[in-house]
Amino acid sequence: MTTSMNQQLETSLSQRLKTETSTEHDRMEQLMEQAKVFENQSNYARFTLSQYYFQKDVEHLYAHPDVVEIIPDLDVRGRSDAVLLDLKDLGLEPQSTRIATDEVSFPQALGWIYVSEGSTLGAAFLFKAAQHQFGFTADFAARNLAAYPEGRAVVWKRFKQAMDDANFSQEQQDQVIEGAMQGFSRFGQLLADLEQLK
Ligand code: HEM
Repeated sequence: MTTSMNQQLETSLSQRLKTETSTEHDRMEQLMEQAKVFENQSNYARFTLSQYYFQKDVEHLYAHPDVVEIIPDLDVRGRSDAVLLDLKDLGLEPQSTRIATDEVSFPQALGWIYVSEGSTLGAAFLFKAAQHQFGFTADFAARNLAAYPEGRAVVWKRFKQAMDDANFSQEQQDQVIEGAMQGFSRFGQLLADLEQLK
């Protein structure tokens, strides 16, 4: 076996996800910048709406029995209830009930959940910005950006460990990464269409 093959087999799923989706992550940061989310409350409200639709897409996948088996603590994850309350604070009501993940299967579903869980890390910066710019808090209009009660890092590490403990084959790992790319693509679309979002 060559060294590069060895390295490939030894790379964990969580490491592969980070490396192989990093370009998409950079693209999200650029889209966020272009959307000028913190320029005014109306932009922030539409961004919050995009968070709501994405959370609904991701939480739809929590019902899958294989997902439940791999990620046993789904009850502490997901932020759609919090976002809905934030939207109320911001005077918005979601007009669409469309779910983008109806056709998503397992293990791709885990890739979508990866995108959502990872986004809680960057949300620390967004939370600070929402506090600083608008005075929003974990109890008003920025609930969905607040840390999980256990803390961001703990819940994130537990998620990565659960994924790595699944001991997926290379092919299954490829499918999880494919799902993550789909998740980033969906959120990217929402961000790009923010002005039209209702
Ligand atoms: C201005 C916007 C954003 C900033 C500043 C930001 C920043 C960050 C930071 C600092 C990390 C932690 C890196 C580490 O500790 O290793 C992170 C991780 C992550 N973010 Fe973002 N982020 C942003 C937007 C997003 C968006 C919109 C998404 C997806 C919808 C996203 C998905 C992720 C994911 C999946 C990870 C985990 C990467 C890994 O596997 O370690 N981020 N982000």
